[in-house]
Amino acid sequence: MSSTTTQQGPQETRVFNPPEAFVAQATVSGMDGYNALCAEAEADYEGFWARLANEHLSWQTPFTRTLNEDDAPFYKWFEGGKLNVSYNCLDRNLTNGNADKTAIIFEADDGKSVNVSYTELHEKVCKFANGLKSRGIKKGDRVIIYMSMSVEGVAAMQACARIGATHSVVFGGFSAKSLQERIIDAGAVAVITADEQLRGGKQLPLKAIVDEALALGGCDTIKDVIVYQRTGGNVGFTEGRDIWLHDLVADQSADCEPEWVDAEHPLFILYTSGSTGTPKGVQHSSGGYLLWAALTMKWSFDIKPGDVYWCTADIGWVTGHSYIAYGPTAVGATQVIFEGVPTYPNAGRFWDTVAKHKVSIFYTAPTAIRSLIKASDVDPKVHPKNYDLSSLRLLGTVGEPINPEAWMWYYTQVGGERCPIVDTFWQTETGGHMITPLPGVTPMVPGSCTLPLPGIMAAIVDEAGVDVPNGQGGILVVKRPWPSMIRTIWNNPDRFKTSYFPDELGGKMYLAGDGAIRNKDTGYFTITGRIDDVLNVSGHRMGTMEIESALVANPLVAEAAVVGRPDDTTGESICAFVVLKQARPTGDDAKKLALELRNWVGKEIGPIAKPKEIRFGDNLPKTRSGKIMRRLLRVLAKGETITQDVSTLENPAILEQLKEAS
Ligand code: WT7
Repeated sequence: MSSTTTQQGPQETRVFNPPEAFVAQATVSGMDGYNALCAEAEADYEGFWARLANEHLSWQTPFTRTLNEDDAPFYKWFEGGKLNVSYNCLDRNLTNGNADKTAIIFEADDGKSVNVSYTELHEKVCKFANGLKSRGIKKGDRVIIYMSMSVEGVAAMQACARIGATHSVVFGGFSAKSLQERIIDAGAVAVITADEQLRGGKQLPLKAIVDEALALGGCDTIKDVIVYQRTGGNVGFTEGRDIWLHDLVADQSADCEPEWVDAEHPLFILYTSGSTGTPKGVQHSSGGYLLWAALTMKWSFDIKPGDVYWCTADIGWVTGHSYIAYGPTAVGATQVIFEGVPTYPNAGRFWDTVAKHKVSIFYTAPTAIRSLIKASDVDPKVHPKNYDLSSLRLLGTVGEPINPEAWMWYYTQVGGERCPIVDTFWQTETGGHMITPLPGVTPMVPGSCTLPLPGIMAAIVDEAGVDVPNGQGGILVVKRPWPSMIRTIWNNPDRFKTSYFPDELGGKMYLAGDGAIRNKDTGYFTITGRIDDVLNVSGHRMGTMEIESALVANPLVAEAAVVGRPDDTTGESICAFVVLKQARPTGDDAKKLALELRNWVGKEIGPIAKPKEIRFGDNLPKTRSGKIMRRLLRVLAKGETITQDVSTLENPAILEQLKEAS
């Protein structure tokens, strides 16, 4: 924990009561219903979770102990219980009346769409699972999934779950090097990928990047590369190692007995950035994780049998796990899975797709909303008012704070003032929503994620772990373990403890890494931003140290410091201060080198990590003991004048040089 954010949250006073038509049918009935659930959790925490786990999941063997805290913070939930996640998501829907219901409406990049029923999805997953087994892949093995948005991507995840293999999805925008690092850390036995991905009318490589990653070396554990043919583009094939998905499943049976696993069995590992070191492999469980994915579909999204639900996230992020691959299927929902990008063929694509498939629940990121506001300012034809959005009844946001202006536009222009907005605060580590309004229940305040879900003991404390009063900013923590929480960091239990359960806070409180403040009167939470060196660019999480390491790995670079700065569209953007081994470049030289370094970072990590701006200096602002003074760099990045104390600065002259682009 580097510092406490004490900045006051936005002093937003507008309150939007849930629209009445919505209230009448909401899953949780009013604030009384919410308070009753909270009181139940307060009175008998384990009883509360045991009841929900029995009501919402199908267990092959019932659990005998709800929560085991003996080895805290390595908590165990639902001990003795055995289940299968894919059984819960698919087989259950074959016998409860959903067999012919559409599970997935796949909206392809080119505007074609195809419907897949629960029966068809089940068959696909079983064949896929049998195919994996035929290659010797088994329970406990790790499988990397490097795919774009597709029915096959979701089927790959479910197929792993079916046989008890632990998947690790790597976002298709990550570089070969990032992919290689994850393959090695996970010790994966196979990679599932596609020949290419289709985004915005362009064919982009996937298989070629897998080949490149494996050629970087150290990936000897990989025995199979399974390739879904998406575009038919030309790709290299390594005999014995590579196999087409259609060949793998061709002769497989459409029945695959699920592998019954312990509730704690690792369903997946998902890598995410921390403030230091390499990305952390966040490990999630099967039972507790699925319980929360399913339950929050009902509580936060009020999902009903007739809904058409659409979450625009990618399966490469946790949102695509909990709210595409697992949550919606676990509750038998119909969902849209979108392959493309929001701006192709034009920036009306989201609204066009909502109208086309009569989407009723829509979940996206504030960055997307902000960029579509801008696009419709430029081209009024793509404004939501030109599309029939009358099917919408609920809107959601995730990934970063939503500014009140964007919230208001979403509420009025997209939701027609009839749709509640759920501003869902959560993290890769939390597995599912933590703090969010309940639709039709919680009065909404633009920019506030309002109140914790029942059973989530969120609080704000100071650096010693002591509660701070409402109205005073502090550190966001969760005081009790919850079923869908991170179980450990793969290969690194010590880092799990120090990152999330630091001794300074007593070792038993979960440290979220965000600052927050509660409203004096309502107790509503507003997230004030990360308190560590983690950036949030377009809702994508990135460690400043990772980007610095990537820059320093370039032979031209002597030193680098990376900071975030506020950005109108992307929330935050990346600004890098770089000292070269050669003399400080200026003018065109500086521009050329900045471009070269941006591309370098793209190659090292992925295009999402490319700094928006690079400034060159002869040195960086440092204290006498040689520590880089990042707080000064943050001020410079914003283009503001430094008014802070610089008495500890060794080389004040450097500030002038770093004030603007070289
Ligand atoms: C970080 C987690 C949760 C899935 C996608 C991102 C920020 C997330 C909100 C929100 C304000 C938010 C936090 C958090 N964040 N949702 N509704 N309001 N901030 O998952 O990559 O693990 O990032 O995203 O800073 O710590 P992630």
